[in-house]
Amino acid sequence: METRRPKRARQVTYVLLCAAALAASVAWIASEWLDVSADRATDSIAADAYPADLSDRFDYSSMQHVLARHCLPCHGRKMQMKNIRLDAARYVKAYAPYIYQQVVTTGRMPLGNSTGMTDAERQFVARWFNAGAPTD
Ligand code: HEC
Repeated sequence: METRRPKRARQVTYVLLCAAALAASVAWIASEWLDVSADRATDSIAADAYPADLSDRFDYSSMQHVLARHCLPCHGRKMQMKNIRLDAARYVKAYAPYIYQQVVTTGRMPLGNSTGMTDAERQFVARWFNAGAPTD
């Protein structure tokens, strides 16, 4: 009986440690999931295809497509170059003047035009910005 007690205590410790580790992982997974699903819920890229003709558009849904194609590879949730992310409306709103500056005025972004942004797409960004940079 006396030798059993410490063993029991060890077992209880193990169980508690496992429970703590499990709780920590569940909490981490939940927070990741909530983060992702919050972005998805508020700012999911519209399910429809990339707009065939941007020439008379200035809506946020089209802007999301343009951002996804040309900016999110470097300014998304995972990769945030120069600490800039453009994957949610609140960020796009906050950075709107800088987006205009980089894409339309200076043409520095996308960096080295690595994504092959067209003039029509730059003109679309200008129209979107001049329409008040809508994000809804
Ligand atoms: C290939 C990666 C890449 C892509 C694609 C890209 N960027 Fe950037 N962006 C960077 C890097 C790196 C910097 C910081 C270095 C610099 O400013 O030259 C930056 C900086 C910026 C800045 C801050 C500029 C400043 O100095 O104030 C803005 C705004 C920006 N990007 C917007 C955009 C937008 C909008 C797009 C899409 C049209 C885009 N970027 C696409 C890599 C990229």
